[in-house]
Amino acid sequence: MAAGPLTVLGIETSCDETAAAVVRRHGDGRGEILGQRVLSQLQDHAPYGGVVPELAARAHIQHLDRLVVEAMAEAGVGFADLSGVAATAGPGLLGGLLVGLTFAKGVAMAQGLPFLAVNHLEGHALTMRLLGHYPFPYLLLLVSGGHTQFQMVEGVGRYTRIGTTIDDAAGEAFDKVAKLLGLGYPGGPQVEAQARRGNPARFAFPRPLKGRKDCNFSFSGLKTAVREQIEDLGTLSDQDVADVCAAFEAAVAEVMADRLRHALDQFMAAHPGLCRPHLVVAGGVAANRALRRVIEDEAARAGASLAAPPNHLCTDNAAMIAWAGAERLALGEQDGLDFSARARWPLDQVSAPVYGHGKLGAKA
Ligand code: KG4
Ligand code: ZN
Repeated sequence: MAAGPLTVLGIETSCDETAAAVVRRHGDGRGEILGQRVLSQLQDHAPYGGVVPELAARAHIQHLDRLVVEAMAEAGVGFADLSGVAATAGPGLLGGLLVGLTFAKGVAMAQGLPFLAVNHLEGHALTMRLLGHYPFPYLLLLVSGGHTQFQMVEGVGRYTRIGTTIDDAAGEAFDKVAKLLGLGYPGGPQVEAQARRGNPARFAFPRPLKGRKDCNFSFSGLKTAVREQIEDLGTLSDQDVADVCAAFEAAVAEVMADRLRHALDQFMAAHPGLCRPHLVVAGGVAANRALRRVIEDEAARAGASLAAPPNHLCTDNAAMIAWAGAERLALGEQDGLDFSARARWPLDQVSAPVYGHGKLGAKA
């Protein structure tokens, strides 16, 4: 379907960011962010060392209206100027999802606008296209606090997951290690800072799933090894903390290199005509310098181009949700107002549960 310019309001409330954005998709496929707001609830959850679902949902209720008004004011558009309303419908925390979804449905119903229930992962998967013409296909590595997976992105709505975590997400592992060491939340940046002055060779932590033929991740065994090491040490000196962080980060980096190599090989094998594969990296964990180095090395080794959205679009935001909605709207798609929130919602509907147990949760 040939589409003229589309102006879409997007809402994101799947985790601990309350976000609203207005995005325009021009007739030639170009994207433009007209206005956006992201409110992080980090302070609310910090005392608990992780996201508390009930607190998150309440904060979304408290702030969403204002953020939508502000994003629309920045964009200079009213409800009558919108072509559609998109909200994250999953995967994520149900309480939060319900807040954004109900809000978006209300606007769509009141204004008679198309409604789009967006998969949060599709938002991450398509962000590079919001930023400029980015050609399909590409390999997406998403590493955040909630997700750790590889997707082959073939087109809008056409995704093949070739790897995921069978337990914790990478960011979650960083956060849990930080919590064990009494460092603040979110843990990733703190662990990275400590690791910089530590000795990665002092502790030999496991490299879960390294060498396996697939592209999956596992972090819970690594986390247990870290916990046992901390218990063995008893009272921790500053150097102990730094060494544990350095050894943990080294283990994650080595696993990442191995898994990414497999994923790039698999992507190339699935696209034999492609002379230069494209790798897109998204999610907060990609900010880690040691991991970034590994990702750059593996991309270079495979002769792949490497792209990552800027930080504020790499982490959770509503512009990516509005954009995914706009891309789908341009294809003539929309969803019914009876679309329910989904705690679990694999982007790739055909992927079998990893290792058959199916307990992959929202993070997968
Ligand atoms: O994408 P993101 O901002 O949000 C969601 O997951 O929704 O990712 C946040 C995650 C947290 O788990 C945080 O600890 C991790 O990314 N993270 C890092 C670093 N910065 C953020 N992990 C490792 N090293 C970092 N420098
Ligand atoms: Zn996300």
